[in-house]
Amino acid sequence: MSEHLILAIETSCDETAAAVFKSGSGVLSSVLFSQIELHRAFGGVVPEIASRSHLEKIGPIVQEALTTAGVSLDDITDIAITTKPGLPGSLLVGLAFGKALAFAAHKRLVGVDHLEGHIFSSCLENKVPFPHLCLAASGGHTSLYCVHDFGAYKTVGHTLDDAAGEAFDKVAKLMDLGYPGGPIIEKLAHEVGNKDFFNYPRGSKSSCNMSFSGLKTAVLYDLVEKGAYNMNSKTFLKPADAVLKQHVASSLLVCIADIFKQKLALALELFPQTQAITFVGGVACNQFIRNQLAAWSTKNKRAFFSPSPKYCGDNAAMIALVAQYKAQQGQYASLDLDIL
Ligand code: KG4
Ligand code: ZN
Repeated sequence: MSEHLILAIETSCDETAAAVFKSGSGVLSSVLFSQIELHRAFGGVVPEIASRSHLEKIGPIVQEALTTAGVSLDDITDIAITTKPGLPGSLLVGLAFGKALAFAAHKRLVGVDHLEGHIFSSCLENKVPFPHLCLAASGGHTSLYCVHDFGAYKTVGHTLDDAAGEAFDKVAKLMDLGYPGGPIIEKLAHEVGNKDFFNYPRGSKSSCNMSFSGLKTAVLYDLVEKGAYNMNSKTFLKPADAVLKQHVASSLLVCIADIFKQKLALALELFPQTQAITFVGGVACNQFIRNQLAAWSTKNKRAFFSPSPKYCGDNAAMIALVAQYKAQQGQYASLDLDIL
């Protein structure tokens, strides 16, 4: 097996990330700049602000990844770049930077699918058996995959509308809780013991596909019925009602965990040969859901893996891992590599 020292660049959304990865050794460095503070006032990612920030940070972040890894650009054999999916203006910054580096320093190029990065992020720290079921849930995507090997996976189900992370973000926004909503909802739910108070709808049980926009609407109508939200002025009317906020947060969290378990149960029926369950993406930072899925997996006699939080959200280490596999297969890109 040939040796690769990979520099990976990830700029698909609101994190400027770079990592150095050595075949046989693993992650030598993984650094990122999170733009959360820049977008917080807007309650979501503003594409124009994201691209400009990537442009400012990409140079220093790549340099920091090399320095932390204790290597120089000369030592690097391959440059990996996320090419899809993501915000076009953000992806282009990483692509242009990576291509310029590859051209100037005569490195091979590998284009990596961001979602493939998430799917295999569970393999960064663990030897995860194949085939397995992977639940990937973030602010932009929520899908269920049957993963046969590196590069060989099949989508079993996906959200038909919003991502699970968006449900957390949008419900948090309804109650003016702040952004991103996931960690805030997790904290409020924990304060009241992660109980289900309002029994929000779990959706269809007959398909592995999911829908989270209906759930957000159900929460909205429930708040209106409780006299806590004015639809006309789009205002939350009970900002001082701490208990209501906790109960909504807790009910939402339990509901989403239940939906995930429901979908995994169906997927396991369809793919009984799968040996493990993995949970990846920004939503996988949620300790309550992790615990629920871990217990569910044990009950179903399957191993459970979820990356450490630093590899759940967007990062370049996961891009490097996929790039290593692709480089070993000779799946290199030419300098006309583009975003897709
Ligand atoms: O993977 P990620 O960092 O970026 C995307 O690719 O979208 O995921 C961000 C999403 C946000 O929607 C955020 O609310 C959610 O992940 N998130 C969480 C938690 N931490 C982040 N959701 C639930 N519980 C958390 N602790
Ligand atoms: Zn992501």
